[in-house]
Amino acid sequence: MSSLIKTNASGELGLQAMPHPQTHGTAQTKPRKSRWPARLDVLQSATGLILAVFLMAHMFFVSTILISQQAFYTVARFFEGAYFFARPYPALVSCVVAVVIALFIGHAGLAMRKFPAGFRQFNAFCRHKNRFHHSDTSLWWIQAWTGFALFFMATIHLYDMLTQPALIGPFESADRVWSGNMWPLYLALLFAVELHGGIGLYRLAIKWGWLEGSDPQRSRRRLAIVRYSFSAFFVTLGLVTLLTYIDLGRAHADHAGERYIPPQSISSVDRR
Ligand code: HEM
Repeated sequence: MSSLIKTNASGELGLQAMPHPQTHGTAQTKPRKSRWPARLDVLQSATGLILAVFLMAHMFFVSTILISQQAFYTVARFFEGAYFFARPYPALVSCVVAVVIALFIGHAGLAMRKFPAGFRQFNAFCRHKNRFHHSDTSLWWIQAWTGFALFFMATIHLYDMLTQPALIGPFESADRVWSGNMWPLYLALLFAVELHGGIGLYRLAIKWGWLEGSDPQRSRRRLAIVRYSFSAFFVTLGLVTLLTYIDLGRAHADHAGERYIPPQSISSVDRR
């Protein structure tokens, strides 16, 4: 069985096709190759890319707390449509979250096709990885594990955002992070998602030949530098942001549950 397990150029596991008993040795009845594996690959790349772009934007929105409480409040109300309609509609946030959940489930489901199925494949892959010492194959392994962790950690956060869209704001978020004990989850989620996203974008670039120069080795090295910088930048931004929420949450702990009221609360777009 293990002789049937192969990895492709990007280090992904797959089963070698068995020759069909009736067509073995004859050329005339060669079965047509299905296009579905390629289509599913494109779909997996596309959902991964959309999620990665969403997460970069998400980190910038969430980190507006570093500017001021009012800045984060403004961003939160913006996504509730408060500046387009007469009042904020938190359900709009739930709609965006629902789309993100659909993409997340789709992406995870497509990625699962490539996970080792059963102990033998798992073992074969580990032996292959250890013997091969190929950095991109090891990266795939890290991505598989961080992706697996995201199944659980991201789901908790997404469910929270889906069902409590109105509780996004400077005090509301800080209370959730500190008094609601979400900070350990966010800390682990931050590392898992930034590692996963950084490796994912790097692998996408390699797979589809983006930014490929005349010297493949050199472009691979350059892409690796971009990958490290990407993860380092977003992990640092996330840590500083998380620390700010923790700080604010601790200071607000005695009033946990109280909503943020902006200084100019007479404005027509503020929450009543
Ligand atoms: C539309 C969907 C999403 C919304 C509306 C959203 C919103 C937020 C908000 C408001 C915060 C600040 C803390 C809080 O209020 O609890 C936050 C933090 C965070 N979110 Fe999301 N999020 C979404 C999706 C995701 C996804 C898919 C991931 C990762 C897979 C993620 C990872 C994180 C992390 C790691 C933090 C902590 C931030 C930090 O360390 O600075 N979020 N999110």
